[in-house]
Amino acid sequence: MNGPVEPFKIKVVEPVNRPNREKRKLAIKEAGYNTFLLKSEDVFIDLLTDSGTSAMSDNQWAGMMIGDEAYAGSKNFYNFENAVKDILGYKYVVPTHQGRGAEHLMYKTLTRDGQFIPRNMYFTTSKVHVELAGGKMMDVIIDEAHDPENDHPFKGNVNLEKLEALIQEKGAEKIAFINVEMDVNMAGGQPVSMENLREVWKLGKEYGLKVIFDATRSSENAYFIREREPGYENIPINEILREMMSYSDGCIYSSKKDCLVNIGGFLATNDKEIFEKTRSMVVVYEGLHTYGGMAGRDMEALARGLREGAQYDYLKYRVNQVKYLGELLKEARVPIVQPIGGHAVFLDALKFLPHLSREKWPAQTLSAAIYEESAVRSMERGAVSKGRDKETGENIFPKLELVRLTIPRRVYTNTHIEYTANAIKNLYQKREKIAGLKMVYEPEYLRFFQARFEKVPL
Ligand code: F0G
Repeated sequence: MNGPVEPFKIKVVEPVNRPNREKRKLAIKEAGYNTFLLKSEDVFIDLLTDSGTSAMSDNQWAGMMIGDEAYAGSKNFYNFENAVKDILGYKYVVPTHQGRGAEHLMYKTLTRDGQFIPRNMYFTTSKVHVELAGGKMMDVIIDEAHDPENDHPFKGNVNLEKLEALIQEKGAEKIAFINVEMDVNMAGGQPVSMENLREVWKLGKEYGLKVIFDATRSSENAYFIREREPGYENIPINEILREMMSYSDGCIYSSKKDCLVNIGGFLATNDKEIFEKTRSMVVVYEGLHTYGGMAGRDMEALARGLREGAQYDYLKYRVNQVKYLGELLKEARVPIVQPIGGHAVFLDALKFLPHLSREKWPAQTLSAAIYEESAVRSMERGAVSKGRDKETGENIFPKLELVRLTIPRRVYTNTHIEYTANAIKNLYQKREKIAGLKMVYEPEYLRFFQARFEKVPL
C-alpha cells in the first residue's frame, strides 16, 4: 500500500520536536490528560484538528501581500464575496472571524425560545449556539451512522422519516429551521448524498421550513458525491457544489477547513431577510460587514483558498491521504469507523479499550495514551464532547465514543502518516495495560476544551 502522490512540492519547512517518553508522560499529566491543554511545542505530529492548520499555497501567500486593510470596502472583501458566489452560488455573503461567529449570527437570527432544530448530527459549537438562542438541537441522522462498522457510502444522510416525524410531533411552527452538516464531523467525516439534500429541501418546502447548511467541509463532501453517487462521476466539483447549495436557503461556513486558511468564516444566503438581519448583527459582534473580524489579507487568502480547495486533483490527494492512514490501521486490525471519513480517521475507543467503563472516559483515555506513546496529538470525540443534558444535568453517553486523528491539509508527508499508524499499532498491542481517567475539573461551556482529568489505577 502506498500513500497518494502529492500534487505540490515543498517550499518552506517548519522544524518539529519529538519529545522523549519521560517528557511526554510529564507533559500529558500537566495537561490534565486533555490534549487541548498540551503545548504545541511538545507535540511531534499534530492531528488535533484540521481547523486552521492547513498549509497555504504560494498563490495564497502572494495574496496576503495585497491585503487592502481599509476599514470599509476592502478590495479583498469583494474578491472573497465573488469567490463565494462563484463556487457556492449564493447571492449574499456576511464575513465573520471564524465558523462559530457565523453560527452565532445565523442561529440567533432564526431561533425563537423553545424551538427545535433538527440536524443530521450535532456539532459542539453549533449545539451550544442553538442552545444559547433558546433552541434544542435534535439528531436526525440515519441509524447506520451510529454503527462504526456499517459501510454505508453516505452515512451523513438525514433520516427523512425521523425528520418528518419530528416536524409532525412538535408542529412546524416549533421547528426553527432544518440544519444539515456536510461531511458530518461527529459521525466520522461522513458525507451526505445529493439525493438526500434534494429530499430534505423538498420536505422543508412542504412544511414551509428553511434549510440551512453547515457547509464547512462541503468541498470534501462534493468529492465523495463525485466518487460514490451514480450520475456524478464526470461532473466538475464546482458544479456539484453549486447544486448542493441550491438545496438550501443559506449556510454557515468555517473557512478554516476546506478553504485552506488559518482563520476566517462566513455565512451566505439567498434570503434577503436573513442577509439584512445578520448583516446588521455582524457590526455588533464581529466587525464591519466588509471584514467581519478578518484582516484584508485574510480575506484574500480565503478567496484564493476557496477556489484551490475545490480543485479535483487536490481533493483526490487530500481524501486519499486520510484514507491511507485508515487503511494502515485497518490492516493491523485497529478498530476504526468505516468508511474512512473525509478529514480524519476515527478510532472506536469502546472497541480499543473494552475493559474501561464509559465513566472512565475511554476516548479521552485513548487520546492521552496515544500522545504518551508517540507525541502524536489527537482529540476525544465522545461523551466528554457531548456534554450534559440541558434539562437533567446528567452526562450523555453517545453511541459513538471516538478518537479523531484529523489530518491537516497539505501539511504532513506520507511518512508522518506511517509513523502515526505504527505508533497506534504498537499501542493496540498493549491496550489492556491502559488505565482510565476521572474528570477533576469541568468548565461550564464546551467542556472538552478545558476539562482536566487524573489517571485511575487499573
Ligand atoms: N461546524 C463544523 C462542522 C465544525 O467542524 C466547526 C469547527 C465549526 C462549525 C466551528 O467553526 O472552529 O471556525 O469556529 N470544527 C473544529 C474541529 C473546531 O476541530 O472540528 P470554527
